[in-house]
Amino acid sequence: MPKPTERGIAPARRVRDVKYAVRDVVVLAEQLAAEGRRMLYLNIGDPNPFGFRPPEAMITAVKEAMDANLNGYAPSDGIDAALQAIGRETARKGVRSPVYTWTGNGASEVIDMALTALVDPGENVLTPSPGYPLYTALLAKLEAENRPYQLDEDNGWQPDVDDIASQIDARTRAIVVINPNNPTGSVSSEETLRAIVDLAAENDLVVFADEIYDRLLFDGKEHTALGSLRDDATVLTLGGLSKNWIVPGFRIGWGVLGGDPDRLGDYVEAIQQLGRARLSANHPEQYGIPAAIDGDQSHLAEMITGLEARRDLAMERLNGIDGISCVVPEGAFYAFPRLHLDVEDGQWCAELMRETGVVVVPGSGFGQKPGTQHFRIVLLPPLDVLSDACDGIAAFTTRTT
Ligand SMILES: Cc1ncc(COP(=O)(O)O)c(C=O)c1O
Repeated sequence: MPKPTERGIAPARRVRDVKYAVRDVVVLAEQLAAEGRRMLYLNIGDPNPFGFRPPEAMITAVKEAMDANLNGYAPSDGIDAALQAIGRETARKGVRSPVYTWTGNGASEVIDMALTALVDPGENVLTPSPGYPLYTALLAKLEAENRPYQLDEDNGWQPDVDDIASQIDARTRAIVVINPNNPTGSVSSEETLRAIVDLAAENDLVVFADEIYDRLLFDGKEHTALGSLRDDATVLTLGGLSKNWIVPGFRIGWGVLGGDPDRLGDYVEAIQQLGRARLSANHPEQYGIPAAIDGDQSHLAEMITGLEARRDLAMERLNGIDGISCVVPEGAFYAFPRLHLDVEDGQWCAELMRETGVVVVPGSGFGQKPGTQHFRIVLLPPLDVLSDACDGIAAFTTRTT
């Protein structure tokens, strides 16, 4: 069917379902800000505007690379020093049988490459609901089917393994696990992860283990790397500098594909084909990878302490509001409160923003169990801002119930 052209340049149909709620809410927020309203931004998971700082050694390493004019293209997989450092990080995590490692412009590009090289139109991928919307957006672009599986809110947002098992069919290619999860801040138990990796191995699926927040765990909780649980499962462990090392603007992430090397050859080649076509990831920023992984980690203790205090305040305040409940986050920097109100979450968030200036993202942007309504907040703003935002949410909720 020809595309309609009478209204100008017709965009490709594949973009129609590409949505990213985290930034979509900014349009209304900017409009309100332009009208002079004080906005309290609790929508974007970017620690830097809130005063969190990366380790200085990383910045120095990147500056030195630029001064040494290492400003050309890098090798398509990444520079050796970075790949070796990622190898040490992979070993620290206990990931078994790594086969192929590459860098990308953020974990986002790595995920894009790994899905593009794997999934044909009409095939399907199981993604967590709620989960990070990039996966859904990319699957829409690839004309593949997104099959959301539920995280169980009554069980600390653990993935519902039965739901995963019941949705696997002959056209399923991968299972995505985000741990710690965005938007819930939940951390998956080893038992759940084992059950998922067993299912993947039995059904010959690739597991996308998105562990970009793996060092940001609260209350001394330990992280289990999914790739550490079985030798023979195909696991793509995803990491990057954006969250653990507080430089999301560097746009540096990586993927470590592990499993049976004899079975991975064609998939690796397909990823490399895509990698060569886009030349390389950001080059000077890659010198920040060894500096980050091998360097001083004291920024983490500071960040975690700050986040725990923010989490405690937000949980006490939000769980004290009639009509709102929230599972306590165990990592990352998000919380996903539930609205026990007769409202539609998108409308509720827009009204909240108009009336109070508090910017949060509707739960529907991440996926939620039918019949439930949520919103996501980030725990990054200073305590006074978070407290003002909770006041706004409390007053608005009380007024509208
Ligand atoms: C779960 C998850 N994966 C991946 C990303 C993207 O990370 P990057 O900045 O490395 O592209 C994010 C960013 O918020 C995220 O929350």
